[in-house]
Amino acid sequence: MTENIYPVPQEFKSTAHVDAAKYEELYKASISDPEGFWREQGQRLDWIKPFTKVKDTSFAPGNIDIKWYEDGTLNVSANCIDRHLETRGDQTAIIWEPDDPEDEAQHITYAELHRRTCRMANILEDLGVRKGDRVVIYLPMVPEAAYAMLACARIGAIHSIVFAGFSPDALAARINGCDAKLLITADHAPRGGRKTPLKANADAALLHCKDTVKCLVVKRTGDQTTWIDGRDYDYNELAMEADDYSKPVEMDAEDPLFILYTSGSTGQPKGVVHTTGGYLVYAAMTHEITFDYHDGDIYWCTADVGWVTGHSYIVYGPLANGATTLMFEGVPTYPDAGRFWAVCEKHKVNQFYTAPTAIRALMGQGVEWVNRYDLSDLKLLGTVGEPINPEAWAWYNDNVGKGRCPIVDTWWQTETGGHMMTPLPGAHDTKPGAAMKPFFGVKPVVLDPHTGQEIDGNGVEGVLCIADSWPGQMRTVWGDHERFEKTYFADYKGYYFAGDGCRRDADGDYWITGRVDDVINVSGHRMGTAEVESALVAHPKVAEAAVVGYPHAVKGQGIYCYVTLMNDVDPSDELYKELRTWVRTEIGPIASPDLIQWAPGLPKTRSGKIMRRILRKIAENDYGSLGDTSTLADPSVVDDLIENRMNKG
Ligand code: WT7
Repeated sequence: MTENIYPVPQEFKSTAHVDAAKYEELYKASISDPEGFWREQGQRLDWIKPFTKVKDTSFAPGNIDIKWYEDGTLNVSANCIDRHLETRGDQTAIIWEPDDPEDEAQHITYAELHRRTCRMANILEDLGVRKGDRVVIYLPMVPEAAYAMLACARIGAIHSIVFAGFSPDALAARINGCDAKLLITADHAPRGGRKTPLKANADAALLHCKDTVKCLVVKRTGDQTTWIDGRDYDYNELAMEADDYSKPVEMDAEDPLFILYTSGSTGQPKGVVHTTGGYLVYAAMTHEITFDYHDGDIYWCTADVGWVTGHSYIVYGPLANGATTLMFEGVPTYPDAGRFWAVCEKHKVNQFYTAPTAIRALMGQGVEWVNRYDLSDLKLLGTVGEPINPEAWAWYNDNVGKGRCPIVDTWWQTETGGHMMTPLPGAHDTKPGAAMKPFFGVKPVVLDPHTGQEIDGNGVEGVLCIADSWPGQMRTVWGDHERFEKTYFADYKGYYFAGDGCRRDADGDYWITGRVDDVINVSGHRMGTAEVESALVAHPKVAEAAVVGYPHAVKGQGIYCYVTLMNDVDPSDELYKELRTWVRTEIGPIASPDLIQWAPGLPKTRSGKIMRRILRKIAENDYGSLGDTSTLADPSVVDDLIENRMNKG
């Protein structure tokens, strides 16, 4: 193997929490004695009633049951705020950088975070929210999003955040999916100089929900919105009156903390459930160790709180560690392509964590945008969400990190709660594009996709599974434990199946090779092709649709749709536009089709099954390896599809 290897920078080795020797020692211990290892890590948190049991987990068919620290009690909000008050009440907990750089940034101290969260908690209680109730949060990247999450945690309510880019339909489905009592939204969401009408979206969504669902509205822009008395409540007004103290509710370690919907290969998105104790131990530990976070550092994760990255690495992990975490409302290219670096300079950011798609987009704008700013405070860079191509890695390393900053390429999922594989910055040399090593307590295995047998040794490739539980693991699918088992534990019995393929190279380092199911990764956002298909076929002019991913220079993967129209409908440019808008309205802008090909017929087997393998190859412009098409009901459809492939992408 002739990979580029980037050694651990010298200055990192001496100060890092974990060096190579310590990794080896602790990793071995975490695998040979998970009980002992996680008992000690459990001490990261303040428990109301200390746990005595550590791990009680089963991946056995018919009995998927995952419990960590099950007899302990605690409160997440108290762990993220109250316990820091004495030592760091005046320290900044959250730096908020607004969309418009001309507007003032906010520095919210731990003391202020405590007041704000308590007030929000009291408002929620006044609105009738109780322990175990569900609250849907549909907010822009404003501090109130963090207050809302922590306030839910404080009173034991379960939050479910819906990304502010999702459509009213998607929002309604998620409100109804968990039978939420309350929706928290804002008037508008400023982003990249434009405003998304969140309250109007919320109004549209609530038409499809129970009348009893209340709506708490944060005034972000102050613009006019419709208002329904008795249903809508003004957060800003209520917060002025609310009491500054709310007592954290004692929660069991296995009480749910949040639900987060994510896409799978079939049907509707599923509600991933994370619980209180194990999740927070794992988020806190990975935040400290992967980013080598030290007291006083300024840490910035550019994700949105609508995704799991925002949950674990903007809010819960950093705050549990008493860190200073930066929350950014805007986008990387507004007002110009230097924004990320301007914010790094302005707030003296030490650890910077973003997605490959953002790096690729900025790379295309030219390095002069980076060079305008002083990035000398940066110590570490991270990436997440999709495989990073070596060119983007090198650009990030050379121009942003100036060759001084280790890059942690963190592989994980909504389901895993926190990092599963990543190089540790003080311990592991890095290879562009490799997730390198398992985190403590994580036991990755490479399986043969056909036999389900473990493939031992190095220089091997297969599907990626995890052999045993870790504390951050999801516990169930909301309201559907059977689906939990079917999705993650049925294909390969006794293992957690991640849905990704992977390679273990000659040195024993791990590389993620991408999804092996019908999930695509568009700009780091996970998208079930089935979801886009069902949105398309819901259009009256569409008879049938098949959606696949194809390589896209900036997004990683683009959305390629094969659409068969109803008999009496002719394709047209107008219809092309109409279908794109249709999908955006059904799901949200992130699901916008990149290419639509009119397909008079789709390649099907004689039993009527669409052969997606062939559609993927055509979308990838890779006709040489179409494989056997003789089993198709009508092989000639393939020639037509090839001839009319959209060559714009
Ligand atoms: C899927 C999970 C984890 C937070 C963001 C996405 C892909 C994630 C990497 C990486 C290669 C990656 C996988 C995974 N993925 N990180 N470092 N290298 N692929 O969370 O929406 O749950 O998506 O994202 O395919 O299964 P998610």
